Amino acid sequence: MLVSSKHRRHLIRRGAVVAFLAISLSGCGFATAQSPLNPAGPVAQIQAGLITSSFWIMMIVSAVVFTALVVAVIRFRARPGQRGLPPQTEGNNRVEFLWTVTPAIILALMMIGTIKESFVLGKIYPASQALQVDVTGHQFWWEFQYPSANITTANELHIPVGEKVELVLTSADVMHSFWVPRLGGKTDLIPGRTNYMWIEASQPGIYHGQCAEFCGTGHADMRITVDAEPPARYAAWVQSMSHPVSIPPKSNTLAYQGYLDFAAAGCSSCHTIAGTNYNGAVGPNLTDLSDRLMIAANLIPNTLANREAWIHDPQAVKPGALMPNLHLPMNEVRAIATYLGTLR
Ligand code: CUA
Repeated sequence: MLVSSKHRRHLIRRGAVVAFLAISLSGCGFATAQSPLNPAGPVAQIQAGLITSSFWIMMIVSAVVFTALVVAVIRFRARPGQRGLPPQTEGNNRVEFLWTVTPAIILALMMIGTIKESFVLGKIYPASQALQVDVTGHQFWWEFQYPSANITTANELHIPVGEKVELVLTSADVMHSFWVPRLGGKTDLIPGRTNYMWIEASQPGIYHGQCAEFCGTGHADMRITVDAEPPARYAAWVQSMSHPVSIPPKSNTLAYQGYLDFAAAGCSSCHTIAGTNYNGAVGPNLTDLSDRLMIAANLIPNTLANREAWIHDPQAVKPGALMPNLHLPMNEVRAIATYLGTLR
């Protein structure tokens, strides 16, 4: 098929517009939800500053190098009638010196900035200067313990806005990595070792994150939510967690049946619910569960139907989940899911 040059230009222009839109629009969700370039606290701010300053330094270097390359290619190209090699030069001391020293200076500048910030980011704050939260990675969920308030929860980390939070990180099984991009970079959780990182949220909000170290089948669904709350709301959350409502009244027949079934079905050998004598330590602590927005490590919303689906067949909801399918009859599933909805 013959294509006129005008038509071809039109096609190229249209292709360029589509490519530009595809590249710029595909970045939209990323830029807002889980992007280190959209920092929401001082740690992420420092890291974003290092990323962007390195980026612009590299852009300037690229611009200089490519301009020199294009100029050289055009100026010293073979001319018509020219035979053999042009005069060969090498070992220009001034040029050699320039292109050895300049990159060294640029790298040294980048290194100084990085080292300076590493000391700020690497500081470990004692409990008197920051809220301490012990974070334990499990296949495939997160355990958060607040030693100062005697609270244990899972997957949803509550923190007060404008306060430093020192995360004390370890793992119960394999390596995981804590990563909430808008609050800070990744830190590994390693069995038998304790790592530290601090975070702080500047504004209230929900910040999403995920495990960033491949840890098994459920790795991709090992999500984190950080709920940064104004101090008063955070204090109210601590208060509610410290006085959990855990045993439904007998008048609430279905929920009370669920409370009994929870032990009969064996759930209590893995899960703790403060305020009851259920104190299993294998799975997530379920105290105050109705407070959580999501279940299954933030995979699905915390609704009655989703809790039922989860208890009925965990692997169908989250491939690789280590919670066993107990093959419970549906009436027991419903009772337990209803009971869990009363925990507040
Ligand atoms: Cu935990 Cu990947």
